Amino acid sequence: MVGYKAGKRLRACRCNLIAIPSPFVAERIKLRHLVSTHRVLYLAHFNNDICRMMILKNKEEIELMRQSALLVSKTLAEVAKVLRPGITSMALDKMIGEFIRDHKAIPSFLDYRGYPFNSCISVNDVVVHGFPNNDPLKDGDIVSIDVGVILNEWHGDHAYTFAIGDPGDEAAQLIRVTKESLFKGIEKAVAGNRLGDISFAIQEHTEKKYGYGVVRELVGHGLGKSMHEDPQVPNYGKRGSGAKMKEGLVLAIEPMINLGTRKVYTEEDGWTVRTEDHKPSVHFEHDVCVKKGKADILSNYAPIEAAEKANENLFSSHSKALVV
Ligand code: MF3
Ligand code: CO
Repeated sequence: MVGYKAGKRLRACRCNLIAIPSPFVAERIKLRHLVSTHRVLYLAHFNNDICRMMILKNKEEIELMRQSALLVSKTLAEVAKVLRPGITSMALDKMIGEFIRDHKAIPSFLDYRGYPFNSCISVNDVVVHGFPNNDPLKDGDIVSIDVGVILNEWHGDHAYTFAIGDPGDEAAQLIRVTKESLFKGIEKAVAGNRLGDISFAIQEHTEKKYGYGVVRELVGHGLGKSMHEDPQVPNYGKRGSGAKMKEGLVLAIEPMINLGTRKVYTEEDGWTVRTEDHKPSVHFEHDVCVKKGKADILSNYAPIEAAEKANENLFSSHSKALVV
């Protein structure tokens, strides 16, 4: 968005992950002054004059992004090996930072808009952006771990929710359904479909079918040489609405789904997002490249799920019924 003289800025948030922003006011943006290249798609006067710029990636760039996404998957698999009651999220965060650096990459969350840790570790009623801390994790905890890397200048950013011990039937179902909804969204990340098709699929499977709360304030996003690129990818919306997707568009799709109310608030630290009713929340995130016919999932849950199943401290039966 560099160079745009917009009348209104995006709504203030420490993170770029903002829900439907106050729109850039189209008449204040001289679109004809923008230089367009074949790789950049400018969309103006779309959706109430919100201006969007989506950067499409070529084959080589997509392969580099796959490497970045897979490094995140490998990092999450390492975490899945050691997660157990008694371990602290701070210890996990240290491990995450070391693992990423050992693989010649940079933990991208650290210092992102002042974020002070390598990862976000969000336990129970923390929706996202939880600070790692020194409290021992305990049986029944629902732990969402979100990791980002920069490798060869390209970002990977994805997340997985684990349950330590037995989370109980309600939370286990929330985990299963949120993961399913991610894959239902991914099914729609196909060239020619619209962004709203992804949003609708996620909302249908979670809010409509199960009555869960779909967080409105936080959304998925484009991914590339920046962690947050256009477009925004809400987890709610109308089928057939929004911009048409093209091959080479890379998206971080990330349903954040609450067992109870969809309402959330941000703590004094400016980051930690919690459910208003303090019921649990679940977060899954994949990096996905839009293709003709079928989306290409750049990140990979297979090593994470293998480690999860092999770890007797983790609850993993929810993955049996998965629609993948
Ligand atoms: N997956 C999150 C996102 O899409 C991670 C951002 S955490 C931050 O924004 F600390 F880096 F902001
Ligand atoms: Co993200």
